[in-house]
Amino acid sequence: MVACEFQPGLEGIPAAQSQVSFVNGQVGKLEYRGVPIEALAEKSSFLETAYLLIWGKFPKADDLEAFQEDITHHRRIKYRIRDMMKCFPESGHPMDALQASAAALGLFYSRRALDDPAYIRGAVVRLLAKIPTMVAAFEHIRKGNDPVQPRDDLSYAANFLYMLNEQEPDPFLAHVFDICLILHAEHTMNASTFSARVTASTLTDPYAIVASAVGTLAGPLHGGANEEVITMLAEIGSVEKVQPFLEEKLATKSKIMGFGHRVYKVKDPRAKILQKLAEELFARTGGDPAYEIALALEKAVAEKLGSKGIYPNVDFYSGLVYQKLGIPTDLFTPIFAIARVAGWLAHWREQLETNRIYRPSQVYVGEHGLPYITPESR
Ligand code: SDX
Repeated sequence: MVACEFQPGLEGIPAAQSQVSFVNGQVGKLEYRGVPIEALAEKSSFLETAYLLIWGKFPKADDLEAFQEDITHHRRIKYRIRDMMKCFPESGHPMDALQASAAALGLFYSRRALDDPAYIRGAVVRLLAKIPTMVAAFEHIRKGNDPVQPRDDLSYAANFLYMLNEQEPDPFLAHVFDICLILHAEHTMNASTFSARVTASTLTDPYAIVASAVGTLAGPLHGGANEEVITMLAEIGSVEKVQPFLEEKLATKSKIMGFGHRVYKVKDPRAKILQKLAEELFARTGGDPAYEIALALEKAVAEKLGSKGIYPNVDFYSGLVYQKLGIPTDLFTPIFAIARVAGWLAHWREQLETNRIYRPSQVYVGEHGLPYITPESR
């Protein structure tokens, strides 16, 4: 075993051998199972991409049909999960509600048979099917309303928007949402995927794995940044205020939300696709003043921080798209989770193939052999 120096944030330390996705952060390239993200965003659907990620190959037409049908069939959630959500405080964050609900699924599907392909497939189908339903259900429950039942005749993306708004979405909007899901489905060894793999390595159940990954995604340095970007753009308020806002952030060494990435030193390829999507949406449905602020901020940050490799990441333009789709700001990160379940499950399967429990070392920097101090002499 090779001893190596402590690296804060494990920067540059491989945590797994993986075939799921690939990032080249110097040129801004992302591939899922070897397929460029641009091609998937243009030609695939979220469920086809999820299949590719999880099973490692594109599905044949009948395999995709069976996968979609199974997922459609499992969209409903148990009434007891809905009842449990009714006990959640309505002021609670939807990511916390999702984490608790994902963990609760494990109570209902407690059989764990990690060497049974039927069990693995069943868990994949249930998680992909039920997570969107749980996100939409909490949105209604927290407003004191009954959840909207899923509709079997609608696609994965259209059904989610329907469950959220109780209205069948325009097909273009459903298509845009589906592309967003593709873009967020997987991204190598990010914090939540690492968390999923660590949890998976204990051979626990997939509901616990997804619950732990949801908790990790929620933080503002990871998936939670998309929500904070919208708050930040609103706080800036106008294009003229971009420069003073940035100066103030730099002077106080604060982070600009939606910018920077451990791996990308250029603009995130997903941000480029999302920006184009946002522009298409604005062309059809009317502009958004926040977009002008975002453009000005991107330019100002490139001037000040471009030499450090700080450019927009996936979270910078996603919120503007979601806002145009009528999605409440605090659902942005749960939506990231809906998509990322595909990546987490792909890594779960991969981890099981060559599992060894994660058990890194640490560098102890504390003291040794100290005496016990009695309470009265502390
Ligand atoms: C996601 O890992 C993934 O793949 C994640 C993700 C995925 O798909 O799973 O891509 C999704 O999580 C996107 C990231 C969302 N987070 C944010 O937008 C929050 C703002 N960004 C950052 O806090 C930061 O850039 C991180 C967390 C994304 C990356 O952190 P690192 O790699 O630990 O970098 P760092 O904080 O150590 O910063 C390095 C330098 C510092 O300057 P110096 O002290 O060296 O002079 O870059 C500066 C930082 O101050 N810097 C920023 C900045 N990001 C980095 N300065 C201002 N604003 C920023 N956003």
